[in-house]
Amino acid sequence: MLKFLIDADTGIDDSVAICYALRQPNVRVVGITTSFGNTTAPQGAENSLRLIKMMDPGYEVPVVVGENKPLFGDWHGPEYHIHGSNGIGGVELPETDQKPLDMKAEDFIIEMAREHGRELTIITLGRMTNLALAVQKEPNLPQMVKNVIFMGGTFKERGNVLPHSEANIFGDPEAADIVFRAGFDLTMVGLDVTHKTQVTPEALAKLKKYASPENQAFADYIIKATDDVYFPFNHAQNNCLDRSPVHDPSALVYATCPQLFKTVRVPARVECKGEFTRGMIVTDFREYPFDAQYVNICVDVDHVRVLEKIISTFTAKAFKI
Ligand code: RIB
Ligand code: CA
Repeated sequence: MLKFLIDADTGIDDSVAICYALRQPNVRVVGITTSFGNTTAPQGAENSLRLIKMMDPGYEVPVVVGENKPLFGDWHGPEYHIHGSNGIGGVELPETDQKPLDMKAEDFIIEMAREHGRELTIITLGRMTNLALAVQKEPNLPQMVKNVIFMGGTFKERGNVLPHSEANIFGDPEAADIVFRAGFDLTMVGLDVTHKTQVTPEALAKLKKYASPENQAFADYIIKATDDVYFPFNHAQNNCLDRSPVHDPSALVYATCPQLFKTVRVPARVECKGEFTRGMIVTDFREYPFDAQYVNICVDVDHVRVLEKIISTFTAKAFKI
């Protein structure tokens, strides 16, 4: 059984990643912590709780509200123009009686590491603020858990905030650099692969058509959530193509099917300064590289099989593109 702790800024692609994880028969989601980004950390927790209710995984998934701003400085607020008024495209999912745990996200991360030890994979889908605070509080965290997989950053692909910077890293580069230096077995699922895997409204329509009965609510939700702002935003940002990159679900597919990805292993740090480079992942291929830890960076992907894997999770029969 794979054990995942997911840290998310629960927006639209985060929600698909969470639902994907909750539907894997060989995965147990031991908890969800939230951070600021696509929406606020409290709203992200509310979204996560409602998604858990919708998916009804058959076991309890605790949710904890995390940090609502970066380690330094302020936060400009949610990405309403990408993820809608509430982070999930303005869709009002049914309420749930489950409440977030009354504790700090970093304490929950440490507690889960103590409980599940080297079986635990921490997957971050937003800013790395909660994880940075956790490792500052418990410096042995990297040795306590199995690994960390994060959606964020870019290696050779263009950035989506600055020329070389991706939103999750740009949103709190100091936190990301703390995680990069901490000693985790760390894998980056960045724009080099998430831009290659793309979903269209037609693929979602097929998901709905073939969704198994227990996934009908998810299919209805994701079509509504992407309709108003997510596909139109991506249409404008991605050369006017009617398709969207598959960011956060790609990290979950990596966590369950790493054989679909090609990685390189290289010393890397996060640039925390620079008018044009803040949030850039700096890799060093020199013979005598700078003092940095090795990171596994996804550089290529079997994007057809990744998309088929995601859609098949929710359909009655294996889905072929
Ligand atoms: O750059 C893409 C990332 O930013 C995704 O995690 C998306 O959900 C947003 O957080
Ligand atoms: Ca995210």
